Amino acid sequence: MASQRPEKVVSVRDLTKVFNGTIVAVNEISFDVYEKEIFALLGPNGAGKTTTVEIIEGLQDATDGEVFVFGRNTKKGLRDMRARMGVLPQEFEPFDLLKPPEFLEYFARLFGRKMTEGDVDDLLELVGLTERKKSLSVHLSGGEKKRLGIALSLVSNPDLIFLDEPTTGLDAQARRHLWSVISSLRDEGKTIFLTTHYLEEAEVLADRVAIMNRGKLIAMGTPEELIEKVGGTSTLILEGVDTDLAGPIQALGFRTRARKDRIEIRLRSGETVKDILSTLTLQKIHFKDLRTRRPTLEEAFLKLVGARLEGGELIE
Ligand SMILES: Nc1ncnc2c1ncn2[C@@H]1O[C@H](COP(=O)(O)OP(=O)(O)OP(=O)(O)O)[C@@H](O)[C@H]1O
Ligand SMILES: [Mg+2]
Repeated sequence: MASQRPEKVVSVRDLTKVFNGTIVAVNEISFDVYEKEIFALLGPNGAGKTTTVEIIEGLQDATDGEVFVFGRNTKKGLRDMRARMGVLPQEFEPFDLLKPPEFLEYFARLFGRKMTEGDVDDLLELVGLTERKKSLSVHLSGGEKKRLGIALSLVSNPDLIFLDEPTTGLDAQARRHLWSVISSLRDEGKTIFLTTHYLEEAEVLADRVAIMNRGKLIAMGTPEELIEKVGGTSTLILEGVDTDLAGPIQALGFRTRARKDRIEIRLRSGETVKDILSTLTLQKIHFKDLRTRRPTLEEAFLKLVGARLEGGELIE
């Protein structure tokens, strides 16, 4: 029996957006997002992420190219798809003088959906805002506001959720909490389209990542595929070893680098830690301890884009 291919929830074909006739914000990009995955569009400030997302959401028109959502060309209108799509805009701010339950009820009414008190409670519980039910939005922290924004995007019980930089400006703890909220949504069977400029966020959350820079897509795949693409392989680190042995280890055919009292061996693709260890044992090379270091998406990205990082954020 042929294996069932996952449904394409979003298809973007040769999408281009030019502002004022001169600013090419999005430059002929194509990609697909499949059902029940977390897809992360990753890129530095100004890469074109929000523009791309807003065109898919139907909030901006494309200059050229086509976008399909649930198989429907967005040029034909998204009216009957609206309820299937949830959106957390990059600049989300709740109304100051509404409490979280009131805010959700207000938007539910806009969607023509009646939410019971129980529905509202479940949604607030899901995003971890139960304790803040009685606070005015103006008194919520930045992280709590983002969580309220995510709850809002879920009001219509959508299948496809767009989260534009959901964790920007949040501290590490708030960010991790939101990561668990986002993963639990995927586990419930929702498709998540995430934009971020946090590499760790993409690596932790995303099933597939597309890297965007200056309007172009420069790489796409699972985090592991991207790491492999730039030649990133794991490193085996021998601690407490006589560094004079680096030469002889190299002579055995391994790529080595000596540092203080340790020797690092870069694995080639296909080479396993087990193979290396059995060769070293055979050659009676002694060491006190060993560990392995896996290359990160961050290293792959920096190679691909030639950007640098400040506090985990991308700076071109
Ligand atoms: N309405 C607009 N008019 C003119 N230029 C615009 C407009 N919106 C976006 N741009 C430009 O298009 C480019 C892409 O912007 P966009 O907001 O899509 O980037 P982004 O990847 O979301 O960045 P960030 O990480 O800062 O949110 C930028 O150079 C931006 O200045
Ligand atoms: Mg943006």
